[in-house]
Amino acid sequence: MEGPEKVTGTARYAVEYPVDGVTYGWAVPSAVVRGRITRVDTAAALASPGVLAVLHHGNAPRLAPGPERELWLLQEPAVHYRGQYVAVVVATSLEAAREGARLVRIDYDAGPHSTVLTDDHPGLYKPDHVNPSYPADTAEGDFDAGYAAAPVRVDTTYRTPAYHNNPMEPHATTAHWHDGRLLVHDSTQGTSSVRATLAELFELPPESIRVVAEHVGGGFGSKGYAKAPVVLAALAARHVDRPVRLALTRQQLFGPIGYRTPTIQRVRLAADTDGRLTAICHDAISQTSTIREFAEQTAVYTRSMYAAPHRRTTHRLVRLDVPTPFWMRAPGECPGAYALESAVDELAIAAGIDPVELRVRNDTAVDPDQGRPFTSRNLVGCLREGARRFGWADRNPSPRSRRDGRWLIGTGVAGSSYPARARPSSATATARPDGGFLVRINATDIGTGARTAIWQVAADALGVPPERVEIRIGDSDLPTAPVAGGSMGTASWSWAVVRACQSLREKLRDSPGEVTAEADTTDEVGNQPARPRYAYGAQFVEVRVDVDTGEVRLNRMLGVFAAGRVVNPTTARSQLIGGMTMGLSMALHEEGLLDERYGDWVNHDLATYHITGCADVESVEAYWLDEQDDELNPAGVKGLGEIGIVGTAAAVANAVHHATGVRVRDLPIRLDKLI
Ligand code: MOS
Repeated sequence: MEGPEKVTGTARYAVEYPVDGVTYGWAVPSAVVRGRITRVDTAAALASPGVLAVLHHGNAPRLAPGPERELWLLQEPAVHYRGQYVAVVVATSLEAAREGARLVRIDYDAGPHSTVLTDDHPGLYKPDHVNPSYPADTAEGDFDAGYAAAPVRVDTTYRTPAYHNNPMEPHATTAHWHDGRLLVHDSTQGTSSVRATLAELFELPPESIRVVAEHVGGGFGSKGYAKAPVVLAALAARHVDRPVRLALTRQQLFGPIGYRTPTIQRVRLAADTDGRLTAICHDAISQTSTIREFAEQTAVYTRSMYAAPHRRTTHRLVRLDVPTPFWMRAPGECPGAYALESAVDELAIAAGIDPVELRVRNDTAVDPDQGRPFTSRNLVGCLREGARRFGWADRNPSPRSRRDGRWLIGTGVAGSSYPARARPSSATATARPDGGFLVRINATDIGTGARTAIWQVAADALGVPPERVEIRIGDSDLPTAPVAGGSMGTASWSWAVVRACQSLREKLRDSPGEVTAEADTTDEVGNQPARPRYAYGAQFVEVRVDVDTGEVRLNRMLGVFAAGRVVNPTTARSQLIGGMTMGLSMALHEEGLLDERYGDWVNHDLATYHITGCADVESVEAYWLDEQDDELNPAGVKGLGEIGIVGTAAAVANAVHHATGVRVRDLPIRLDKLI
């Protein structure tokens, strides 16, 4: 829908709204990892042309010391991690603010710090639960006995580094206070959630805050919650009593806005000689910060993916002097699937069974974790259809069995799954006297095509051509709706939209004219029977590896998915190939490197933090099965924002092993690990 606005440059993003008297904020990060600010000298900054104010813990407006410890910024002299924002300079131009920030002098008392995750860290502990609310550990049967008795076993440890969200549009906010109301244009995945957080921090009724996010240049999870820039901009606007714009630079995205935690994952699998799993254990270690517990659900994927009589999963965390990790596309499932789907490949080799066939043999109609049947599970369909389209049947299973000149060629496969969730949402539908309709819901389109999907769902539910329907989203003054995250946006929003439209049609039967109907799905979503609901997929990858240099190139990548009803094939395909491309990036390129001496990220820009570019993706294809599942939501969608990335890195690593005979268990697969 918004394509013409985007390609003509008229779509407005958070810091592009014209605002009279706007000023500019520049955030100052701490220069130490852990310690206390002992002195802030603002004299030189304040004397610099255009600088209006320097906010710091000594003069900033007060925030409520609630649970939002991470966002309790400029409130205390304590520093909890390197890069924590400790001051904001406000000036009449961006350049003046930046120059002012350079002139602020801050002295610290720095203490010792611990910033590197290890599997023997003395601070390892078991969290109460892992995100969003899973038990930290699970056990069924007797893993140790089952494992010891099995004829085929693998015991391997996989490591993934920190990954940094790099949406095209960095986190950015324009904030102004007037008439006691706070108006914020924010680059966020959900303005209802940002409004709630600001209300809590500033101790205001939610109605006195309006957050708008009409267009958002991506988030990948990092904008799934209010982050430092929106809080700093609101604080600064209150302090100087003028509108403030605050945008992070690309470099500032590395750390304080969240990142995917590094993981250390031990996976043990045991099977009988037919490749049927008898014992599964997945022990995951990840990190959090000292100010907030973020417990990534790394091993949760393993609980429901394949069945075995003896199963165990554990999560351990360490509180380090680091910024708090946060969501990044398919948090938990993505790194967890890399480990499990790699280990399944290793098991297939140990058992001498084709990895597609081994996965098919271990399919299960009943969720091993919940003990209930899946509402639908088409993993086998994805594997079979993917194998057919990819041309898997001719594969010689021996590593290093294909060579084309300098290149060793290999193929790999992985399964994938992602929960199909929905959250309560509200919406309104209005019939206008001119025969048009208006649907209002505070959904957010972060570049995925969500606005278009909702438009189609609404037109369907109203039984009118889409041209007669207008959609309004991206504004917290609209009916409250959940974030664009967890692959549950379309499922959650369309539920409320369908109900509002259905109710409008009923009302119109009695009284035609200008009529509005409202819907709130809180009860309906809450009363949904507890059943395991998941989307599934299978990714197939062919790589070539230079026999001398170890350079890995992607020949082709193909995924087949089962994600319920697909509302819009164009935007769905875009989500899936985008997810798979990020999975390739995880396998081959991305790696956050932290220097323990400074507790800081060494590679914090796109020149040094490598991501997959278009030239790295020679061929990527995404397909899906027709899947009708009536136990999901009225639109029958499972969501597909995240499943594309889940499994992909394992498929790449499995293909690299097939090409070279080298099993890389710590990502990324750099050439130095292959030669
Ligand atoms: Mo996605 S990481 O749930 O925003």
